[in-house]
Amino acid sequence: SNNIIVAIDGYSSCGKSTLAKALAKKLHFIYVDSGAMYRAVALYFLRNNVDMADHAHVEEALKNIHLNFHSRDYESHITLNDEEVSEEIRQMPVSEKVSAVAALKEVRREMVKQQQRMGKSKNIVMDGRDIGTAVFPTAPVKLFMTADPKIRAERRYKEIHTKEPNVTLEDVFENLAHRDYADTTRLESPLVRADDAIILDNTELTPEEQLQFALDRVEPLL
Ligand code: C5P
Repeated sequence: SNNIIVAIDGYSSCGKSTLAKALAKKLHFIYVDSGAMYRAVALYFLRNNVDMADHAHVEEALKNIHLNFHSRDYESHITLNDEEVSEEIRQMPVSEKVSAVAALKEVRREMVKQQQRMGKSKNIVMDGRDIGTAVFPTAPVKLFMTADPKIRAERRYKEIHTKEPNVTLEDVFENLAHRDYADTTRLESPLVRADDAIILDNTELTPEEQLQFALDRVEPLL
């Protein structure tokens, strides 16, 4: 098929989803937040005390997890077994668990399968950690986003501190560092820049400039 896939990967809280949403909205593409899927799985594992060392338990849990996206105005809303969990999956307990869950082979295999299905025949923008390497290795546009770690932590802190007032800027900084370390060092499709991904360091770019940078790469394909 000749649908267009835009893969956006990079470190935690680099502004991937902000750019992905803006791009999808502008081009009328579907936006898929792959991180939300891993987060929803992590939430299920937390609630159900899934033993991550027990492969049978993990497989069993995955069979009982049904995820769905409901796109409203290009905001990604995800349901876990028909329950809206979009807010809860952004909170610290899930952020602290998610990278360990996402490192499990069984979990990745199932998520990648679902993600590939979503990209079968539609134009999509998908953001995550392995979209350009494992999910859509032939995507015609791949961006790899980075930004100064302190700026990333500050942005993230601003987003969550009204909802979780006990979480400090330091906690956020540490969580980002921990997830980046776990995501880049895991055995199963670690976070790495695809050879053909273009680096986008957004430390000093406005959202408008980032959008233009991406549009310049997608528009010639339309
Ligand atoms: O994108 P977000 O920060 O919400 O992702 C949460 C976590 O999910 C990441 O830190 C990573 O462990 C995992 N993830 C992944 N592969 C993806 C997307 C997210 O392993 N494609």
